[in-house]
Amino acid sequence: MDLLKLNCHTGNFLYFKSFRIKYGSRRFLPQKFLGMKICCIGAGYVGGPTMAMIADKCEDIQVTVVDLNAERVDGWNSDDLPVFEPGLTEIVLRRRGKNLFFTTAVEDGIREADVIFISVNTPTKTSGVGAGKAADLRYVESCARQIAEVGGGDKIVVEKSTVPVRTAHSVQEILSSAENGHSYQVISNPEFLAEGTAMKDLEKPDRVLVGGTVTPEGRAAVDVIASIYAQWVPQERIIKTNLWSSELSKLTANAFLAQRVSSINSISALCEATGADVDEVSHAIGADSRIGPKFLKSSVGFGGSCFQKDILNLTYLCEHFGLPEIAEYWTKVVEMNDLQKKRFVTRMIDAMFNTVSEKKIAVLGYAFKKDTNDVRESPAIDVCRYLLDETAELRVYDPKVEPETILSTLGTKEGEDSVSICKDPYEACEGSHAIAVLTEWDEFNDLDFAKIHAQMKQPAFLFDGRNVLDLKALEEIGFRTYGIGKG
Ligand code: UDX
Ligand code: ADP
Repeated sequence: MDLLKLNCHTGNFLYFKSFRIKYGSRRFLPQKFLGMKICCIGAGYVGGPTMAMIADKCEDIQVTVVDLNAERVDGWNSDDLPVFEPGLTEIVLRRRGKNLFFTTAVEDGIREADVIFISVNTPTKTSGVGAGKAADLRYVESCARQIAEVGGGDKIVVEKSTVPVRTAHSVQEILSSAENGHSYQVISNPEFLAEGTAMKDLEKPDRVLVGGTVTPEGRAAVDVIASIYAQWVPQERIIKTNLWSSELSKLTANAFLAQRVSSINSISALCEATGADVDEVSHAIGADSRIGPKFLKSSVGFGGSCFQKDILNLTYLCEHFGLPEIAEYWTKVVEMNDLQKKRFVTRMIDAMFNTVSEKKIAVLGYAFKKDTNDVRESPAIDVCRYLLDETAELRVYDPKVEPETILSTLGTKEGEDSVSICKDPYEACEGSHAIAVLTEWDEFNDLDFAKIHAQMKQPAFLFDGRNVLDLKALEEIGFRTYGIGKG
């Protein structure tokens, strides 16, 4: 395949089919993307939505998303997509079969592509060196090996998965050792989309980060990737850096965001002790333009596939590079999050006369936040486990999470071990001693709480782990209410 000539032998220009990139002046001339082929390895929460957006914004690029998981691929080819994101279905339906394809033919996808995005999972290692902290890079590495084996011409390989700093180096080493006559440029292009707002974040990102090696070929490859985004993202929002800055920026961004949540959650404990109201404190401090109002919503704890994993990853890196004090500093962010979940359950037990044993608890919301069906690291999992340890009976309702997902994350089966899954919130609350709101689904605000209260055991308790309900109005109905950080 000669579409991409990264090794420039003829003066100062690279030719990328209809692209001409002049790296001497950093000027590049993206024309049409006619015939350009992108392959994304990994049809997950990141790969699927990101590729759908690229396909939608760049109709001349053929985008193929490949995955080993046939069930997932079938899902992407059906009307019931495996990832729930507002606005995603419309885009997939618009582009699928035209310039957006989902397939298990991983090798074909790799062979034909000019640009390959690696968007596979990088979970925290569960055994061996760095267990519990370091990222498990086996999937990323296997992608690199497969790309090297399959060949098919020169390629730009883009790290989309969040990876530890210097992973690109390992990927480059594997690709270079292939000795297949092709050249590869490894680029870091971390994803900053948040679940639930993925399509909005992709369409109007605060920034797009593209990092590459500081060589002419590296810069040219950065320009190619940047020019794809430039089809819909303003140039000033596309940040070009070196590889390591890009990789580290992703970890740092998530660590800072998680730190804000843990910081306000730490203050919520003080609010509960003193009678202050954490929402008022958030509002007051967020009005300071240097602090800003975002990510100051106190909650039962942060969840999601990124925050904890990335901080642990960061701490592992710090330890690896002989910076134990820095590692300790960031570890506290995760410890504070664990404490918040435990505090929530302890408060429930204290309020309910020091025992929840054999009491029915309606759990409203199981996803790690609203507008997603994702439960990875959801605080609801730990809260439910703690309650089960106290031999409480759980009646769980979530509008988007599949019952099997809830049961498997709790290590139980329907009807066993005191967990039942309910089809609506009223069913979950009927006959319950308490309600625990663990995800901030909008629909919980519209519930008929007078009706719910009348059908509960008395006194009826309500613990709002997201501070989304009007506790004053609920008190008037007769609930005993407890919000996060409400003294
Ligand atoms: C995060 C980053 O925001 C995103 O940029 C990155 O690409 C992936 O990780 P995500 O995990 O999807 O995105 O969700 P996010 O909105 O950041 O929320 C993470 C967790 O923090 C959720 O459990 C959320 O409920 C919680 N949170 C967030 C709070 O408890 N309070 C807040 O103020 C904000
Ligand atoms: P993320 O949230 O980062 O998108 P997911 O776990 O949702 O992570 O998705 C990652 C996807 O990558 C999974 O569907 C998994 O099957 C796929 N995957 C992992 N390794 C490979 C591989 N070597 N080839 C193809 N697909 C892979």
